[in-house]
Amino acid sequence: MNIKIAPSILSSDFARLGQQVQEAIGGGADVIHVDIMDGHFVPNMTIGPLVVSAIRPIAARAGVPLDVHLMIEQPERLIAEFAEAGANALTVHVETCPHLHRTLQQIKELGVKAGVTLNPATPLVTLEEILIYVDQALIMSVNPGFGGQSYIPSSTRKIASLRRMLDERGLSQVDLQVDGGIEPQNAAKVVAAGANVLIVGSAIFNEKASVAENIVALRRAVD
Ligand code: DX5
Ligand code: ZN
Repeated sequence: MNIKIAPSILSSDFARLGQQVQEAIGGGADVIHVDIMDGHFVPNMTIGPLVVSAIRPIAARAGVPLDVHLMIEQPERLIAEFAEAGANALTVHVETCPHLHRTLQQIKELGVKAGVTLNPATPLVTLEEILIYVDQALIMSVNPGFGGQSYIPSSTRKIASLRRMLDERGLSQVDLQVDGGIEPQNAAKVVAAGANVLIVGSAIFNEKASVAENIVALRRAVD
């Protein structure tokens, strides 16, 4: 399987965000992951559509999609703004969407890929009816809100179950993403369980090595 690496800019140096996005792309990023937090659904705040539109030209020039992870309440209110800002994919949490099917349709109607995700404590059964409508499904392997947390071990079983659910439905085209605590030491296990997109923040943007070196290390770990 072709494994995609999606650097999460949450752990990047925001004072030089454009440069960091460029470094990630130069280092072989397949996707740029952008975390949107509202201080309500998660206990942290990050950025809005304005910053997405600021990095859009850098990603677009390289043909690298912007994957926007909405950790916000009532995401339906801001979906159009994020699509307009340049999101190529928008992922919403099942916990924030009482009308999940409608919200996913709203995303698709804007010509953007639709993704769904769930917190570590939310059971996979909440995705059962909706998988046929999504382009990507994301297993959160930490509680959303912060970078640099440790991978929750039970996530591996959840990834394997989701891969089974996709297989049973003939949905091999749906990307199975994993987000949180991924590093070269556990990346192979996550891929073996069935993930094909690794979202990685602190193991890519850190002081230990360059962004490119860190991406290479992850790729080596899963090849
Ligand atoms: C967490 C975010 C992640 C985060 C991952 O709420 O959704 O995208 O940046 O960071 P690491 O890889 O450091 O766990
Ligand atoms: Zn994320």
